[in-house]
Amino acid sequence: MGTFALHVIVAVFLAAVTVSAATPAASTAFPVPSIITPHYDTDPLYQVSPPAHLDFKVAYVDYWGQLTDWSRTPQISTENTDLATFCSLQNRGFWFFGYTSSVKEDSYDVTSFSSTLSLAKDFAHPAWIVDNWAEWPPIPRTADENEVSVTYSTDITVNASTNCAVLSPSKAIQFWNMRLSSCGPFAGTSMVVYEFYPAYNALKVTRPVTITLTPDEYQYGSFATVVVKGVVYLYAVDTSQDGYHQDIHVASAPAATVEDKSTWRYWDQGAGAWSSTEPFPIARRQSAAIISLPAQTSLRDSASIFYSAYHNSYLLFFLNGSEDRLRVKYSSTPLGPWSTNDVVVFSFPASVEHALVTPVPFQNGSAVAGQTVLVSSYGYNEPKTKVWKLKFT
Ligand SMILES: *[C@@H]1O[C@H](CO)[C@@H](O)[C@H](O)[C@H]1NC(C)=O
Ligand SMILES: *[C@@H]1O[C@H](CO)[C@@H](O)[C@H](O)[C@H]1NC(C)=O
Ligand SMILES: *[C@@H]1O[C@H](CO)[C@@H](O)[C@H](O)[C@H]1NC(C)=O
Repeated sequence: MGTFALHVIVAVFLAAVTVSAATPAASTAFPVPSIITPHYDTDPLYQVSPPAHLDFKVAYVDYWGQLTDWSRTPQISTENTDLATFCSLQNRGFWFFGYTSSVKEDSYDVTSFSSTLSLAKDFAHPAWIVDNWAEWPPIPRTADENEVSVTYSTDITVNASTNCAVLSPSKAIQFWNMRLSSCGPFAGTSMVVYEFYPAYNALKVTRPVTITLTPDEYQYGSFATVVVKGVVYLYAVDTSQDGYHQDIHVASAPAATVEDKSTWRYWDQGAGAWSSTEPFPIARRQSAAIISLPAQTSLRDSASIFYSAYHNSYLLFFLNGSEDRLRVKYSSTPLGPWSTNDVVVFSFPASVEHALVTPVPFQNGSAVAGQTVLVSSYGYNEPKTKVWKLKFT
């Protein structure tokens, strides 16, 4: 599309890739087309009341189709994209994908990327994206990972299953699952930091590998991440100890120091207190969990938790995998207690492996944040992200 070419001309490049040996962190910077999408912040209290609109009746659902870049050449299509996760930073809407591959239809050439990044093009049509405008994986590798990759001629594969959490107007974090090769074992979760500089149209992506949670730890931040009044709440799901329940555990840290794991605190629901000692999932700790969901919930072990101004409540949207339905629970704080009767808000027409909900892109003008949400879904048989708009009455 011609208009896109014009946008690219104004893009500014920062240093392409910088890997520092002193601190084992990797960082990448990208030019970003100047496409503006709406973004409205909410700044809730920790404890909110009274709640509103708790029947979660849906006025309408719009199906917007698969995330598609109409400007790409017809010879190349992106296949096998994982769930797309969303990040609204300032006035841009970023979509991050996990392992993806590009297929040339006139041959069988396949180029695979361990992660890709797209930009939302127009939030009146949120399935329209600008894809592959950055041709290298946005999630940077550490020097060690590069060495493994070169030595064994393999690729690290990464995927994220939750949306990013916005720490400050220009900064967000997201947690990515890591594997050292596509069939290798789960290597833990790594925190990734995004910084967007609108004046330069540039997105900087950094991995402070001091925050890599090993497979022996709770994967805090991988189930959901919420920021309230300068505090980050990092949710982990424990599925390992009991085949019938999934316990949700929480850590927290000041947003300003979340990259320093020594500032993390760990919640024990039973004790009603935060501790500076990190617990490990060596036995089931149900009394320490904020909620236990039945095991048939969300096969991909993540949920969307955010504050909805429309409901004046914290909402926990999750996929009930055994019925392919999106359900919601609500609470007056980010820790609960959560409503016990969850409400079905949407039934997917086909089998879904994963679904995420975000309130961000539709908070336009007088619209109250949370009345309209974007749902993105990913299925076994249709491995391309589909997007839906859902409006509550
Ligand atoms: C935002 O609202 C204005 C005025 O109602 C409308 O013209 C515009 O299309 C809306 N934008 C989006 C992205 O919905
Ligand atoms: C994403 O990562 C998780 C954890 O490593 C893994 O279970 C899942 O299979 C991955 N998905 C893909 C499509 O690689
Ligand atoms: C998930 O769906 C099953 C089957 O409909 C139901 O029995 C179960 O209670 C649901 N779980 C939750 C947490 O809603």
